[in-house]
Amino acid sequence: MTKPVFILNGPNLNLLGHRQPEIYGATTLQDVEAMCLKHGAAIGLAVVFRQSNHEGVLVDWIQQARNEASGIIINAAAYTHTSVAILDALLASDLPVVEVHLSNIHQRDEFRHHSYVSKVAKGMICGFGPQGYVLALDAIKQLTDTHS
Ligand code: DQA
Repeated sequence: MTKPVFILNGPNLNLLGHRQPEIYGATTLQDVEAMCLKHGAAIGLAVVFRQSNHEGVLVDWIQQARNEASGIIINAAAYTHTSVAILDALLASDLPVVEVHLSNIHQRDEFRHHSYVSKVAKGMICGFGPQGYVLALDAIKQLTDTHS
């Protein structure tokens, strides 16, 4: 049986729809999850969708993905810009990785321009809001089809 794609979300994304809606929009994380499960099913991908505010929990899930997932889509949120631990876990996973951000991080504060995740991601989708997750699923579908 084909392994699922893990979609992992970092800190404060549980507040999506309520947090800075002028930047992140009105869609909640539950809505994003529903979009991902629906699109995943349409293109033949099982999806495991998770969010944590804790760096170590995200590292644990990436280590779990190493054995249990076919690929990783990750919006590491603020940890994108700070976490060598998440970068190392992604490197160790040996899986195709697609990085997502709701906002266009390059139009924002300078400290958001650098991403540790980008060092390991095959590519990054940013600036398209929740639709970015759907685009990421299409991207990971192509990558996992060629990876397996
Ligand atoms: C974000 C961008 C990050 O800079 C920020 O810390 C987030 C969300 C995004 O999806 O646009 O929490 O990853």
